[in-house]
Amino acid sequence: MQAKVFVTRIIPDAGLEPVRAACAADVWDDRLPAPYDTLIERVRGVDGILCSITERIDANLIEAAGPQLKVISQMAVGYDNIDVAAAQARGIAVGHTPGVLTEATADLTLALLLAAARRIPESVEYIRKGEWRTWEPQTLLGHDLAGKTLGIVGLGRIGKAVAKRAAGFELRLIAHGPRLTDAEAAAVGAVRVDLPTLLREADFVSLHTPLTPETRHLINPTTLAQMKPTAILVNTTRGPVVDQTALYDALTNGVISGAALDVTDPEPLPADDPLLTLPNVVIVPHIGSATVGTRNQMARIAADNLIAGVNDQPLPHAVPAQI
Ligand code: DGY
Repeated sequence: MQAKVFVTRIIPDAGLEPVRAACAADVWDDRLPAPYDTLIERVRGVDGILCSITERIDANLIEAAGPQLKVISQMAVGYDNIDVAAAQARGIAVGHTPGVLTEATADLTLALLLAAARRIPESVEYIRKGEWRTWEPQTLLGHDLAGKTLGIVGLGRIGKAVAKRAAGFELRLIAHGPRLTDAEAAAVGAVRVDLPTLLREADFVSLHTPLTPETRHLINPTTLAQMKPTAILVNTTRGPVVDQTALYDALTNGVISGAALDVTDPEPLPADDPLLTLPNVVIVPHIGSATVGTRNQMARIAADNLIAGVNDQPLPHAVPAQI
């Protein structure tokens, strides 16, 4: 008999087809994610769940699924929406999709950095509003990149890929991470510094640390005050790494100069959020991995993890043990 699985979103065929071929798949086919209570109903009795960052997979849901649940396969590299310890304590394997979205996310980081530094959204708006009457010597002036300093918080896969790209823009690189070594930083042309030094010296601060209890609100009133008044903050990791109220205050009071966010807290960001009223903020809707090729690869890996898990095989990309 085929394993029963629940797929929480309509994922690319590259992943959905192998899942349908190998399992009895129930697929949530609404454009919006299932409400939590519906999710609980749909996972009851399944052997595997293929989910994404939009689902809260907590201990209660894992319990409700039942003792036959073998695998939770997340179509994302981050898994802060899953209670991994609760799953692993019940012997349930948890998978994710590392590696394949590194380049796409690093590309978007540079795109956001450039958009904020060179005021691209404001410039587009300027034309749309009919304000472009002539070339103006002092209008829409942004920040140079060459010779400036980029501070990378979290020099993992994505942080390193950002460093490689930033070197091409002639940025000086400094980096911080709790376990980062001098040699690891030097391998991508960066100098390892502590967080206060990074915040003090960087013209651009780019966040690449996962969301954990330690990194929640890492960027807060105190750390924002350590940054240069000309600094631009870029966040492509998880919204709650930044205290968004503090960010709004910092941007309106000239504590820092701008921000570029792929991730917010909450997501989706309500259309009336005060951050959206600020000209010095660029916000895009969590599109770091949103390329056709990357999403296909993520879906394929999530399918491979799911199929391995329901067949009692080791997952090709398992989340490290947390218990
Ligand atoms: C991830 O993979 O964690 C991204 O945030 C979504 O692709």
